[in-house]
Amino acid sequence: MIEPGVNITPANGKLGVLLPGLGAVSTTFIAGVLLVRKNLGVPIGSLTQMGTIRLGKRTEGRTPFIRDFVPLATLDQLSFCAWDIYSENAYESAMKAGVVAPDLLAQVRTELEAIQPNPGVFDPTFIRNLDGEHRKHGATKRELAAQVIADIESFQESSGTSRSVMVWCGSTEAFHAPSPAHQSLDAFETALDQDDPSISPSMIYAYAALKLGIPFANGAPNLTVDIPAMTELAAARQVPICGKDFKTGQTLMKTIIAPGLKARLLGLDGWFSTNILGNRDGEVLDDPDSFKTKEESKLSVLDTILQADLHPELYKDFVHKVSIHYYPPRGDNKEGWDNIDVKGWLGYPMQIKVNFLCRDSILAAPLVLDLALLLDLAQRAGMKGIQEWLSFYFKSPQTAPGLYPEHDLFIQLMKLKNTLRHLRGEDLITHLGLEYYD
Ligand SMILES: NC(=O)c1ccc[n+]([C@@H]2O[C@H](COP(=O)([O-])OP(=O)(O)OC[C@H]3O[C@@H](n4cnc5c(N)ncnc54)[C@H](O)[C@@H]3O)[C@@H](O)[C@H]2O)c1
Repeated sequence: MIEPGVNITPANGKLGVLLPGLGAVSTTFIAGVLLVRKNLGVPIGSLTQMGTIRLGKRTEGRTPFIRDFVPLATLDQLSFCAWDIYSENAYESAMKAGVVAPDLLAQVRTELEAIQPNPGVFDPTFIRNLDGEHRKHGATKRELAAQVIADIESFQESSGTSRSVMVWCGSTEAFHAPSPAHQSLDAFETALDQDDPSISPSMIYAYAALKLGIPFANGAPNLTVDIPAMTELAAARQVPICGKDFKTGQTLMKTIIAPGLKARLLGLDGWFSTNILGNRDGEVLDDPDSFKTKEESKLSVLDTILQADLHPELYKDFVHKVSIHYYPPRGDNKEGWDNIDVKGWLGYPMQIKVNFLCRDSILAAPLVLDLALLLDLAQRAGMKGIQEWLSFYFKSPQTAPGLYPEHDLFIQLMKLKNTLRHLRGEDLITHLGLEYYD
């Protein structure tokens, strides 16, 4: 366990942000950082850039910005490295994604064009709806991991970065259950040599990062580091890891609304969520196996927030449906509809309708930034293994084995901020507040 007020190594020098997948989310994140650096944009949605933290009693008036309270890398210190199975540079990919407007992209075009993705590690059995040819080739999966390690080392050398973090922004891989090859680091490394089919490309990137002592965050719902082999490697290499699946859009709304229903003990008969989405992510999720991975990630949040076992009259047997429809005209501008059948006093039924016209990558980009900066902070503070305090950012938070995840956004935020207070040796905030009335 980390002691309160631990010594945190300063964030000197450049920080490399390694991004497998140079699609809509990655390019929106990179373009955003470059624009903010030039004062051409505001990093809305980023806790590390805009969030504050209350310290001590409410009467003390101490509420610094988080970025002034803990030593984070600044946006000027970031440099980027990516992999993709399509060879377009970050400018071309951002133009294709159509999220950030062309006139804004034009202002950071040179920097974006300089980001050329390395060829990706790809296996069509894990992503069936893509066919990019910008791929690595190797006799075994171990060899592919060695190629990713070589890419990272050469990026770090050429860009002069002293530290890096990796955030998976690649497509969602097809659902697969943990296999014997995932159960220990030994088994995993043997499986790498034997080209075991249960090792997915995302695991190969994560393995490469962890071997180099680089923290890893998983923005998609893939298993990736959520297996014993990877938690063992993270512990051995003293590296922080976290995942899975950026919490944006409909699930974000669910984890905002459901805690409110639960707080007021309003019952739930059903929650029907559907949405239309037309970006490449939507195309990948059109494959039922990739959608199954996403569906598992989306479905679990209500169960843990509502705790039907403790409140059977309110939440036993509620119906929860989630569907995603690939609808190209909408591009990245997803539209989500939620119908929530709730019940109140004496069981009287009511309905809530939510129609969220969101922008998927606009919601996800600040999460990539925060995760990169906070994982780097965690490493400099000596934190290793699963970082549950970063569950604020995920639909399906990774936790210690046997521990249920906290999905309630407000509990997650409190956990995150208390972790920062703990790191700086400040009192944790319990909201008891009796002392104001003594
Ligand atoms: N945008 C959101 O709100 C959101 C929320 C939660 C999760 N996610 C997840 O984030 C990921 C990225 O989303 P996106 O909208 O940028 O998707 P995208 O399709 O625009 O980009 C993903 C990129 O990954 C590339 N890719 C796929 N497999 C690869 C591999 N093995 N190696 C290297 N590159 C690979 C694809 O070619 C593509 O360019 C997806 O998995 C998505 O499900 C996004």
